[in-house]
Amino acid sequence: MDNNELLAGTDPAFTVNGALRQFGPGPANTTALEWLRSNGLTGAKEGCAEGECGACAILTAQPDRHGGTAWTAVNSCLIPMASLDGQELFTAEGLGTPAAPHPVQEAMAAAGGSQCGYCTPGFVCSMAAEYYRPERGTLEQAPADDGGRPQPWSGPNGFDLHALSGNLCRCTGYRPIRDAAYSLGSPAPGKPEGDPLAARRGSQAPPLRSTLLERGDGVFVRAATLGQAAVLLAANPGAVLVAGSTDWGVEVNLRARRAPLAIAIDRVPELDAIEVRANEIEIGAAVPLSEIERVLGDRVPLLRQLIPQFASRLIRNRATLGGNLGTASPIGDGPPALLALETRLTLASAAGERTLPLADFFTGYRTTVRQADELVKSVLIPLPLAGLTAFHKVAKRRFDDISSVAAAFALTLDGGIVTRARIGLGGVAATPLRARATENSLAGRPWTRETAEAAAAVLATEGTPMDDHRASARYRSAMLANALLKLHADSTSEQEARP
Ligand SMILES: Cc1cc2nc3c(=O)[nH]c(=O)nc-3n(C[C@H](O)[C@H](O)[C@H](O)COP(=O)(O)OP(=O)(O)OC[C@H]3O[C@@H](n4cnc5c(N)ncnc54)[C@H](O)[C@@H]3O)c2cc1C
Ligand code: FES
Ligand code: FES
Repeated sequence: MDNNELLAGTDPAFTVNGALRQFGPGPANTTALEWLRSNGLTGAKEGCAEGECGACAILTAQPDRHGGTAWTAVNSCLIPMASLDGQELFTAEGLGTPAAPHPVQEAMAAAGGSQCGYCTPGFVCSMAAEYYRPERGTLEQAPADDGGRPQPWSGPNGFDLHALSGNLCRCTGYRPIRDAAYSLGSPAPGKPEGDPLAARRGSQAPPLRSTLLERGDGVFVRAATLGQAAVLLAANPGAVLVAGSTDWGVEVNLRARRAPLAIAIDRVPELDAIEVRANEIEIGAAVPLSEIERVLGDRVPLLRQLIPQFASRLIRNRATLGGNLGTASPIGDGPPALLALETRLTLASAAGERTLPLADFFTGYRTTVRQADELVKSVLIPLPLAGLTAFHKVAKRRFDDISSVAAAFALTLDGGIVTRARIGLGGVAATPLRARATENSLAGRPWTRETAEAAAAVLATEGTPMDDHRASARYRSAMLANALLKLHADSTSEQEARP
């Protein structure tokens, strides 16, 4: 199909630091970081070009689901610039000037939060996003841990240090940077004219715009609806879907991948919705993980445990469940949790939709039953949820690291008996998988240490774990067994702690 049947091509345009700019010449696969730097905005830096360091962080204006705008920090090295057509963004140099620094820049200078300065523009953008987060309260209002204590990463001003989890600094050290973050006040509500970003939060984020960019290295298209995306996909089976682009960016930057056609599906309305119904929760495939966390809160405890352990805030502000399932990676963190939740998937194509259990989705190493003309539309989590759930991720670093092994548990207990057990695993086979033998060994048994030990021995034999640079097969099996023992220990110590 001729892409022009759906869309009219124009030069994409963006509002950058308050000024309208055209995309101009350049390949369709140009990342936002490449575009900014080649257009004179060299504040954003390239450290790694794979989402690990945050030196490239910028602010984008995203809808906040209440009719206003949320300033959202993202890794510009991973985003196709064309996908920002019609959008507004700020870089560190747009936030303030040496004569009139932004409060975040002032705080960083006062706390000695910058030495070589390479990481500083990225830190400033991540910090500014948290500065403008409307829900940021005081320490007393900060989310509590399971024991009711304020989370250790919340400052006295309610600043959530996770906002900086995707930013690395190699020479200042993190204490001065944390001091700067914890010293921040709030944007003055009475004086919006002095702070355009604070004022901008009260009006709608820029709407989506259909985009068609045809260049020598490929074609970039943003379809406005699911129907348009499905028609394009049906006509171009070699096309690559681009949702949060956190995998796309790595493929483009590090593996020099150039798809003949990239179809942007982030913020396509049908893929961007979360609906809580009486019998299920439906999460659109293109909803960013940070948004799922915000909208669902504690509604699905297993997702509540999973999401903060998934990459960094910068990545989570873009990464989606559809993209996580689209890669079909055996070490993705989404599938183990979604398998334990007995999630079903809706796949959509121009021919219609079908729904299937996630457990039937994966067929082999990075292969699935999804046809070339289909995309993941949504995940459906059945209700009610199991009462005892946990997500255990074993990785070399606590945050911003891929799993060596992951296990998600969802157990239903009735009178101390396990009436139903669902366990999802990652990192122990060519595909994510359900630990069915362990589930069977738990079903109908009393939830005692003996049962947990017996089931842990079975769990250690599930899958076919490998030795690789992340972990040995023996370590992976041992970690699975430990995860189940930990679940038991945590659940019984919680019961004992209850008055
Ligand atoms: C620094 C860094 C850290 C990371 N840490 C983690 C981590 O801790 N845990 C983890 O699991 N992953 C991690 N990832 C991988 C990545 O962030 C996730 O896989 C993410 O969920 C991908 O979502 P996305 O929307 O950004 O995907 P995209 O990059 O947009 O797409 C990825 C793939 O999925 C396909 N796709 C996208 N949407 C759909 C859809 N709706 N239907 C069908 N196919 C689709 C695309 O065509 C593409 O092939 C990390 C990545 C980076 C760069
Ligand atoms: S350059 Fe390192 S995260 Fe973008
Ligand atoms: S100030 Fe040098 S890397 Fe952070």
